[in-house]
Amino acid sequence: MSPVAFVYALHVLAAIVWVGGMFFAWMILRPAVIAALEGPARLKLWLQVLPRFFVWVWCAVIMLPVTGIGMININFSGFQTAPRYVQVMMGLYVVMVALFLRVSTLNLPQLRKAVLAEQWAEGAAALGGMRRLVGINLMVGVAVVAIAAIRPMF
Ligand code: HEM
Repeated sequence: MSPVAFVYALHVLAAIVWVGGMFFAWMILRPAVIAALEGPARLKLWLQVLPRFFVWVWCAVIMLPVTGIGMININFSGFQTAPRYVQVMMGLYVVMVALFLRVSTLNLPQLRKAVLAEQWAEGAAALGGMRRLVGINLMVGVAVVAIAAIRPMF
């Protein structure tokens, strides 16, 4: 196995963990939790689920640029000669990280505080904000993966 294949595999695995995790949370777990649990129990469950997922998102946040920049240097010998789709990937990475930071440093502490104080309306509002931002990030992530796979030559 060539070193670049290893770096490439790590890059794709990081993308799968992040985008696949958001897909599962939004498309599968969210409607299942609504169907199975009442308000306070829902909020308590998300407070257990999200910090665990965010540890893995942090791994992806670090892994993607490290491996991505490694591949740029190996495959394209630098940023200037990298194709446009790789530059779009980097731009959308910044968008994804910004949204993730907002959710993990603002909305999650709000949810934690509300659940500890048993203020269920505030907790529901914090969770609602997270749902919207994670939904947007899921769409951006799917777009990045699609662009990476199609490799458009614009
Ligand atoms: C700073 C951030 C990033 C950099 C520098 C970067 C760089 C790269 C490079 C150089 C490639 C190889 C392209 C080629 O050989 O044609 C690649 C492939 C890929 N990247 Fe990224 N990337 C970044 C972020 C992301 C993000 C955020 C995602 C998804 C969430 C992602 C998903 C992928 C996928 C799925 C491939 C494989 C495409 C394929 O071969 O079909 N990357 N990336």
